[in-house]
Parts: sequence; structure tokens; C-alpha cells
Amino acid sequence: MKNDILQKLENYGQEHLLQYYGELTAEEREQLISDIRNADFSVLENIGGSALKKRGTISPVNAVSVEDIQKKCAEYERAGLEIIRSGKVAAVLLAGGQGTRLGFDGPKGCYNIGINKKLSIFGQQMNNIAEVTKQAGAYFHIFIMTSAANRGQTVEFFKENNYFGYPENKLHFYVQEQAPVSDYSGKVYLSEKHRVALAPNGNGGWYLSLIKSGLSKVIEKENIEWLNVYSVDNVLQRICDPAFIGATVAANCNCGAKVVKKAYPEEKVGVLCLEDGKPAIIEYYEMPDALKYERDGSGGLKYCYGVILNYLFNVKALNETSCSLPYHLADKALAHIKDGVKVVPDKPCGYKFETLVVDMVKLMGTCLAYEVVREKEFAPVKNAEGADSVQTARELLIKNGIEI
Ligand code: UTP
Repeated sequence: MKNDILQKLENYGQEHLLQYYGELTAEEREQLISDIRNADFSVLENIGGSALKKRGTISPVNAVSVEDIQKKCAEYERAGLEIIRSGKVAAVLLAGGQGTRLGFDGPKGCYNIGINKKLSIFGQQMNNIAEVTKQAGAYFHIFIMTSAANRGQTVEFFKENNYFGYPENKLHFYVQEQAPVSDYSGKVYLSEKHRVALAPNGNGGWYLSLIKSGLSKVIEKENIEWLNVYSVDNVLQRICDPAFIGATVAANCNCGAKVVKKAYPEEKVGVLCLEDGKPAIIEYYEMPDALKYERDGSGGLKYCYGVILNYLFNVKALNETSCSLPYHLADKALAHIKDGVKVVPDKPCGYKFETLVVDMVKLMGTCLAYEVVREKEFAPVKNAEGADSVQTARELLIKNGIEI
């Protein structure tokens, strides 16, 4: 056994990862050593109190309201369409999640949201994009981030569907990084006797992974100045929305965030607010009750702007930050080896370590909160049933006149 490996395990208290070493073939031993060498165990330092708890002074943020936008819509749209035509904006689809809540066996984007016809989530989002590219008379580049596990199926699905009629040379797939997963005491799990258990490290690494993949060359070569980052799980997502682009540029902000008025205080959306006077987002599970239920003078929620994972980031501003983000701990059911056999628990049994795109807003310094009409732009598919589910998303698609 190599000394550097033993030293690394000792430094992080992970010697148990070698417990089956004696049973492994030479090839498996090599694999395990390589996994240990590549694993970033420093994420474990976030257990038991992380930087997240140390938040500054929180106050409400002002947004450009739906009414404000309507008044200036033509102007914003004209400016945004010009930016699309000049090739200065590209989209980034975050599709590296595991979609555990939906419980679908495959990438979430392949899920059939149709009723009378086949319509995948990817397909529906590409239809939304087609409306914009038609209006602009131009295509923009789309970077698609997958996980190591779902890359093959995602690429294949796009191919099978003839890239949804989009020019293939404008679609770029890349893979996000992974982080080890552990039990609650910080002991990293094995997924096989010779494999360190890993999971996608959250959607916050989208830009660093894009750079690592080499695709930032496309951004440089094509002089792309803005990146519209969006999630796979909203079937009403408006991507590279010209008015949103125009408004963010006109506001001279380093980023823009689409927001909706929260439907009720407990709604599971991150909230855009100010932290020490700068735009920042607090995730729903980290929002103190005192702020969650606080009302303003007219009886509305004081912290009312929920984010829908649709952001416009300025590339220069991204390059000026380290993109170094705090880790969030997600309590998850994690398959692992126990007493020599593989167990697939149905209850949470440890932590996944994730950085989140919501934390990037704070790094940007300035952010335009851009309010959109919930029923027109927010139909999340998070769960199989109940709130934010396949059923609620289907209802909203139908309400918007989309044939499914
Ligand atoms: P979610 O926070 O809903 O996570 O992702 P998830 O993994 O897809 O779903 P659950 O929690 O297991 O049910 C929000 C968006 O961020 C992407 C997802 O694909 C989705 O578009 N994401 C999430 C990534 O790209 N990478 C990740 O590591 C996590």
C-alpha cells in the first residue's frame, strides 16, 4: 500500500475504506486506490457546523415587478433579442441531479410529462427554446451539465430525438464533479468493496466543471458574455427570455434572478433577499421561522420572492470570483456496503455534500430580482405526487394551452 494513500486516510480518519482490501483482486485494489486518491475528503470538514450558519444581517429585496416589466417589455425584449442575435448569450442546463424525489429510473429530463402524446421534460424545454430562437431568428449555444452517472443516457436521448431539431453543433454536454458521501459521523461509505461511494456535488459547481471540461474555450471563442443557467425540472421554464436579458443588462447588474411571489410561507423555494445589503438567497430549509412568516405593512410576506432556478450570469463577473462556495449537507438515503453486503436503504442514512448555484448570487455583488407570473413560468417537477409533482406540472402545461 502506498504511503500517500495511508497518510490521506489517516488525516481524514477514513482507514475503514480499506477493510475489504485483503479480499480484492489486483485490479480492484488499483481501482480503490485510485478512488481514494481522487476523492475530496475535505468536504467532510463541513459536518457539525459549517460556514452556512454564519449569515449576515438579512433584509427584504426589491424586485422589478410584473407590472414594471409590462410597461417596459417592448424595450427590454428588443435589447434582449439583439443580444441573442449577436451571439453574446448562451444557456446552461443543469441536469446533473439524481431526482430522488421523483423516483424515476433515468435522467429527469427523459421523464414523459405527456398524457395523450409522448413529451419528455427535455423535449418540452426545447420547445420553449424554439419559441425564442424563432423570434430571434438565431440559435444560441446550450451547455448541458450531466452527472457522471446520467451522461450516457442523456446524450443518447438527445441523439434519439434528433436533438429536438436544434443544431447539434450548438449543444455541448459536460460532466459535473462528484464528492464522497458519508454516514452521520463522517465515515465515508463504500458503494462496492472496492469503490468509494460518490454522488454529484450539487449544482453550484456548474461553472468550474464547465471550465474543467474545456468548454470555456467556446465561451471565449464566441465572445459569450452572459450565461442563462436553468434547471431541468421546470417544464414552463423560459430560457434566454429576451425581456429578462434586456432588463438585467439595462439594470447594469452582474446577474439576474427570475423570482415568483411565494404561494405560502412554507413553500419549498429559496428566497432572494439582501444579506448585509447585498443580494443573496436563503434556501427554504435554512430560512428561520421568524423571517419565513414575517409580514409587511400591507399583510404580504416580507420575504416573498422565491427563486425558480433561472439566472443570468455575466461571464466577466464569474471570472472575477473564485466561485468558491460553502457546502450544504443533504440528508439522503445512500446505497452502501454494510457487513460485506450492499444495502439500499429507503430512509436517509447520511450526508451528500453539495454546493448550490443559489450561493453564487452573493458572489456576484449585484442581482436584478425579476418577477415573473408563476402560472406562466413555474411548473416544477420535484415529486411523483402532491405539491410540485408530475400532476401539478401537467395541469399548468394544459392551463398554458400546451398539448400534452
Ligand atoms: P434538485 O435540488 O431538485 O436536486 O436540483 P435533484 O438531485 O435533481 O433532485 P432530488 O433532490 O434528488 O429529488 C435542482 C436542479 O439542479 C440540478 C438538477 O438536475 C436540477 O435541474 N442539479 C442538482 C445538478 O445539476 N447537479 C446536482 O448535483 C444537483
